Amino acid sequence: MKIDGKAYRTIWVANDGWSVEIIDQTLLPHRFETLRLATADQAAHAIKSMQVRGAPLIGATAAYGIALAMRADPSDEALEKAHAMLLATRPTAINLRWALDDMRAHLRNRKREERVAAAYTRAAEICDEDVATNEAIGRHGLALIEKAAAGKKGPVNILTHCNAGWLACVDWGTALAPIYMAHDKGIPLHVWVDETRPRNQGASLTAWELGRHGVTHKVIVDNAGGHLMQHGLVDLCIVGTDRTTRNGDVCNKIGTYLKALAAHDNGVPFYVALPHSTIDWTLASGKDIPIEERDPAEVTAIQGRMKDGTVATISLTPEASGAANYGFDVTPARLVSALVTERGSCPASEAGLLSLYPERKKK
Ligand code: MRU
Repeated sequence: MKIDGKAYRTIWVANDGWSVEIIDQTLLPHRFETLRLATADQAAHAIKSMQVRGAPLIGATAAYGIALAMRADPSDEALEKAHAMLLATRPTAINLRWALDDMRAHLRNRKREERVAAAYTRAAEICDEDVATNEAIGRHGLALIEKAAAGKKGPVNILTHCNAGWLACVDWGTALAPIYMAHDKGIPLHVWVDETRPRNQGASLTAWELGRHGVTHKVIVDNAGGHLMQHGLVDLCIVGTDRTTRNGDVCNKIGTYLKALAAHDNGVPFYVALPHSTIDWTLASGKDIPIEERDPAEVTAIQGRMKDGTVATISLTPEASGAANYGFDVTPARLVSALVTERGSCPASEAGLLSLYPERKKK
């Protein structure tokens, strides 16, 4: 996507030909800065501290983390160590394991002297595949927006949660790709952006992305969606996912489940956009997905820009109050109107997923 006329991805190899650059997402929307990663440790830190975040992007960053590890030491031991270290950064998004297992499988049977080049090539392929996949998701999701637009006076009102845009991926985004395509096609749109406490990925990242692309939007507090749906102000919801299980259950940023319940109660379609790398074929249902618990300080404090332009963190709660910080929740498949993948849309069920990915049928 373009920022001030310049095309960016969220991760790329620097001009030196080996270090890796990212956009530091902890500084958005107040500052746009890029950051150089030169070691696997730095890649792990970027994922853990959420300088990069979003399921596909943490997978891509981990892939480059393996390439950086191989550059330092292409041994089997170093490969296993980097795989384990990067895997331990965040527990919920399955794309992380998918990318790391893919890298390891590509490197394991190669000679040591071939491993560095092979690792960079495969990491670049993972990034390119992510872009192509998301573009395809965008095309399939566009059809759903076109359906909502047919015969409607005024803009299509779409609600989204968290950030499943290009910042969460290498480019395009999953849930936001159809929105960008519909906007580019001239379909009148308006997006309700859930702020997405505690880290405000909606207010900070989705709103920034949409604004840069010229998509009309409004940020709403996380509790507003139900009210808007009751008053006919939402035509459809579309969100991303960090892990979708074999039966179509969807794990996504905390609060997604409540939006799906409200959508169900109000007859609003609730779509989930995802690439194949987000499907965990090993889990029969969402109840076994590990849910990340993060620092309670993300709940008790908030970051923002002061009037003088400085960015500061301020306390919200009484000093003695504890806080719980669950990062994700599971939306049962029965509340999902359709899954939108790079191969098309399907019902949120094992049969639906297998109709698009028949190679996953158990033999
Ligand atoms: O904690 P985050 O910011 O990494 O969570 C991101 C989300 O929950 C996204 O909705 C999900 O990764 C889908 S991104 C295409």
